[in-house]
Amino acid sequence: MSQIQILVGSVTGTAEAVAEEVSDHLEAAGHSVTINSMAQVEDLVRNPDEILLVCTSNTGAGDLPDNLQPLYVQMTREFPAIAGRRYGIINMGDSSYATFGEAGQAIDEAFADLGAQRVGEPLVLDASTGEDPEALACAWVDQWQRLLAPEATP
Ligand SMILES: Cc1cc2nc3c(=O)[nH]c(=O)nc-3n(C[C@H](O)[C@H](O)[C@H](O)COP(=O)(O)O)c2cc1C
Repeated sequence: MSQIQILVGSVTGTAEAVAEEVSDHLEAAGHSVTINSMAQVEDLVRNPDEILLVCTSNTGAGDLPDNLQPLYVQMTREFPAIAGRRYGIINMGDSSYATFGEAGQAIDEAFADLGAQRVGEPLVLDASTGEDPEALACAWVDQWQRLLAPEATP
């Protein structure tokens, strides 16, 4: 089973609530999970075995929330050694914005630029559909966590 750190970016708490629900699901599947809502670059490198799961909303015009933006800036300036690290993306936006999902895409690219290996496709949630983000995220993470097994091919 895996050690997973969920990196949360949230303005009004929706992504935070999704992260908590996803954490419960992952723990029920036997994983060890921590939620980090004030991530710093040190948090990425302290445990090389940890799998990283970004769970972020979008704000402004395709911007990351204030509690995740510092990590993004540090990643692009300090180049932490996370090559080969596995990560996943839950990207929560609203398609009524022209900049739909751009913040989640930006942090996905920052991980890829550092050589990290994304597991599965990003989950992109659209608030304008009115669907329950927690239910959608839990269904996605059930599949995602299967890809973490040593025998699975991402
Ligand atoms: C002021 C504001 C700006 C937003 N800007 C964007 C955006 O640029 N792109 C996008 O996809 N969603 C945008 N959204 C939608 C939010 O990302 C979406 O509602 C999300 O579920 C909010 O999650 P949170 O409560 O965790 O912040 C914006 C929402 C607000 C209130």
